[in-house]
Amino acid sequence: MPRTDIIATMQADIERVLISRRQIAARVGELADQISGRYAQYPEGLVIVSVLAGAMVFLADLIRHLPLRMRIALVGFSSYPGPATEAGDLTCVCPLDIDVERRHVLVVDDILDTGRTLRRVVSDLRRMKPASVRTCVLLRKPGKTEGDFEPDFVGFDIEDVFVVGYGLDYDDQYRNWPDLVVLKPELYGASPAACDRAS
Ligand code: IMP
Ligand code: MG
Repeated sequence: MPRTDIIATMQADIERVLISRRQIAARVGELADQISGRYAQYPEGLVIVSVLAGAMVFLADLIRHLPLRMRIALVGFSSYPGPATEAGDLTCVCPLDIDVERRHVLVVDDILDTGRTLRRVVSDLRRMKPASVRTCVLLRKPGKTEGDFEPDFVGFDIEDVFVVGYGLDYDDQYRNWPDLVVLKPELYGASPAACDRAS
């Protein structure tokens, strides 16, 4: 199938654009300024711990705007088995492989939904005795987060809809779409919870 036809079929899956690539780029620049301001006081730099795979596009853009010394490490959890939009149990599928003792750590993730993932990452990290742990998320769904987890840096507060694109997936697809979009409800056929939310 020609390239333009593939793009057209993906485009046809999209119900609406929630946040455009231009808006994302502008906000990532602002977030980077805030983060640089906070970490400029540490000449030794920081360790960025990012969560696979949803944060990869955000991470790639963000780090190129940060004029700081840094090491980057990745962790991975599996919580959305197959075509699901409701999280199941958190299983660590890629453990942290870096020493963070006495280092300043910034955890970067795509979205704060229930907060289970970030809470788990932060509590695992704290046991490794870092100098500090802060968190940065591109998106937050206010009202969904369990407990009182407050990220240090937030890109956008969004409504309670399932979003894909810019790294976020549904059934491991759509991560490469450059905007943050909402898919047509009929695509979530295998997931009744998502149909409820989308209708
Ligand atoms: P939480 O643990 O419930 O805060 O969410 C953890 C992970 O679920 C996020 O890092 C995302 O990878 C995924 N997630 C949550 N909401 C969405 C969404 O609207 N679209 C795509 N992935 C999501
Ligand atoms: Mg994630």
